[in-house]
Amino acid sequence: MPAAGEDALDALNALVRPDLEACNRLIVERMQSPVALIPQLAAHIVAAGGKRLRPLLTLAAARLCGYPAGGRRHVALAACVEFIHTATLLHDDVVDESALRRGQASANALFGNKASVLVGDFLFARAFQLMVEDGSLKVLAILSAAAATIAEGEVLQLVTQNDTATTEAQYLRVIEGKTAALFAAATRVGAVVAERPETEEAALDAYGRNLGIAFQLVDDALDYAAEQERLGKTVGDDFREGKITLPVLLAFARGDAEEREFWRRTLEAREQGAADLAQAQALMRRHRALEDTLARARAYGEAALSALAAFPDGAERRALAGIVAFCVDRAR
Ligand code: IPE
Ligand code: IPE
Ligand code: MG
Ligand code: MG
Repeated sequence: MPAAGEDALDALNALVRPDLEACNRLIVERMQSPVALIPQLAAHIVAAGGKRLRPLLTLAAARLCGYPAGGRRHVALAACVEFIHTATLLHDDVVDESALRRGQASANALFGNKASVLVGDFLFARAFQLMVEDGSLKVLAILSAAAATIAEGEVLQLVTQNDTATTEAQYLRVIEGKTAALFAAATRVGAVVAERPETEEAALDAYGRNLGIAFQLVDDALDYAAEQERLGKTVGDDFREGKITLPVLLAFARGDAEEREFWRRTLEAREQGAADLAQAQALMRRHRALEDTLARARAYGEAALSALAAFPDGAERRALAGIVAFCVDRAR
């Protein structure tokens, strides 16, 4: 039985600990610059922690595919993946006007939007340098495509924001782009460094993609339901921004005319009063919108688990299976 929830994240951490430590050292080394504001701002978000989920996935996927424990490519690519993730967080918090990240004041709140955008660009550039050092055009193709897809997902989200006519299909396209693409790339490159056949690359891509969709579905439920201290982000950010996420889509579709008017006023016209977030949460409870969002996440989690069947049983496969439970159960 794979471990559930937080235990599963601990188990994965324990399994690849020396490699993750090497990855964290590389991150600190490569965020340096003679321009002092860059390491200052980068250190703020890097030291605040984060789960390091995506680099953990790269490290475990590589080991699952038989990449040697003493190797370095998977460590460098894990750092590269975390740089891409961190850059998108810096940009995302500017776009979302978020004040909290990883339990601390966000970089935009502390250093301003301009510095956050520019240091995000710097971290993206560092990620590309790591890909070039790896030397594999295939790795470069996978990770650069993911970087473009993330940006597309964020832009698509921007243009569907505040529009209650957004469909579930459009929402899925957004989350596949902004979140699942990087999970898929993070796991796929594990098979590439281990020089495994295309079938195994595709299986790890399917694992990462389905896991990423599940992860974002849960994130979108947590934005209405989490304990803020544990989440480390402000509960209700999505509501304030008028993001059309699955909990909203379900409550809207199941609501009567008066409820739809509430959603149009708060999310489209963005006229929100002090009691409106609580009212949104109450409507979600009435229509079981969060439960059904989590059920959808579990279904994607099942698909991620099925993709792992392509690999022999062992510590890595069990740890990656456990991560599915972590992602669908998580509170942070
Ligand atoms: C946050 O990702 C961005 C989303 C895709 C929801 P994480 O929840 O993995 O962020 P950290 O790295 O642990 O802070
Ligand atoms: C995920 O979307 C952001 C990226 C993948 C860039 P969110 O906007 O939901 O992420 P959080 O909630 O701010 O972490
Ligand atoms: Mg955000
Ligand atoms: Mg979110």
